[in-house]
Amino acid sequence: MLAGKRIVLGVTGSIAAYKAAMLTSSLTQAGAQVDVVMTESATKLIAPLTFQSLTKRPVHVDMFRLLDQTDIAHVSLGVSADLIAVVPATANTIAKMAMGIADNLLTTTVLAARCPIVVAPAMDAEMYENPATQENVAKLRDRGAVVVEPGYGRLASGLVGRGRLADVEEILGRIRWVVGQKGDLAGASLLITAGGTQEPLDPVRIITNRSSGKMGYSLAEAALDRGARVTLVSAPTGLKPPPGVEYVPVVTAEDMCEAVLAKQTHADVLIMAAAVSDYRMDQVATQKIKRKDRELQLALVPNPDILVESMKALRGARNPVRVGFALESQKLEEGARDKLARKKLDLIVANSVSAAGGVFGSDQNEVVMFDASGGRTDVPQAPKIQVAHRILDRVVELLSRRGCEQV
Ligand SMILES: Cc1cc2nc3c(=O)[nH]c(=O)nc-3n(C[C@H](O)[C@H](O)[C@H](O)COP(=O)(O)O)c2cc1C
Repeated sequence: MLAGKRIVLGVTGSIAAYKAAMLTSSLTQAGAQVDVVMTESATKLIAPLTFQSLTKRPVHVDMFRLLDQTDIAHVSLGVSADLIAVVPATANTIAKMAMGIADNLLTTTVLAARCPIVVAPAMDAEMYENPATQENVAKLRDRGAVVVEPGYGRLASGLVGRGRLADVEEILGRIRWVVGQKGDLAGASLLITAGGTQEPLDPVRIITNRSSGKMGYSLAEAALDRGARVTLVSAPTGLKPPPGVEYVPVVTAEDMCEAVLAKQTHADVLIMAAAVSDYRMDQVATQKIKRKDRELQLALVPNPDILVESMKALRGARNPVRVGFALESQKLEEGARDKLARKKLDLIVANSVSAAGGVFGSDQNEVVMFDASGGRTDVPQAPKIQVAHRILDRVVELLSRRGCEQV
């Protein structure tokens, strides 16, 4: 999503300026063209050479020295950018932006820009909580800037409060989300389930499966990049939810079912990528089951079928595009087509347990998609994020077909 995008990164004189180097590195690795514009104060805290080395592009500080570079005028960086991110943003620069002051290259660039602006404030809590700063931040937000709220914690001054620059990961997620607003899923709401549910046997033991959750998380990340609003209902995975998703952590199949029913009311698309335990204990033992020298029998009862429950709850009031997953150890196509029909899915993504490289925990996947009108799409082995984009390509088609039907 960020590949080829022109991003102006404004770095101001906050102690958190070094974190802008990490953001620069992530943005350039994602393929963006990053032009760094620093304030004079920022150059006292981190050397322009750091950014120049990371971006392989000149770093701009002095508005009047730009005249040496024939193709850049004092407004052209802002005019040609796809997005401007001011990270970190000092109280001073925020105030200038709110007032429309243009007394250095960064504030002039911002004033001339017509692209989206992301602002990540960083300062002492007293400065951030000051009504002047609060009003300035509110003004920027009212004018459409995306403000990545600072976090709460220990600040450089030694005080504890709100003012710490948000995590670089979170800022990157917001930048990706803003850039994705022109994507083909902009405005669509996706509910994605991920991970392997866990069913307790007793207070210490669980029944679970080998799902890593990586496919569901990749789908969430890819959907965000394409402009969707994403709710991720996830069983425990140990993975970090992509910044920007609405994250709903669950443990058991019943928890997951409840969360899906609660969150599906606004969903345009349901993607059930979780590996849900088919059974749970009839009675969870209240004490740890002790070892005995004889056979142990466990009574298991079926878990709710989330897709069936979801359809029952919507009672036809809404008809989201439904995507399911099938993992088969034999007769892949037969099993997947049967599930597609039985569960009234629009699309089923089938993977074989025996796929080269393995499915569980792997960063790669190889799938076959079958749709309700008999179509088949093969996706050869690729990183899960690429597979996620191919699945979403089909979702976009199904959504637009549905849009036409409704007309
Ligand atoms: C070591 C040091 C750290 C600073 N950290 C911050 C900060 O985190 N946030 C902030 O708003 N100002 C901070 N300041 C004050 C700003 O650098 C000062 O207000 C400056 O005028 C900001 O200029 P600029 O907005 O053009 O970068 C710091 C100053 C120093 C000397």
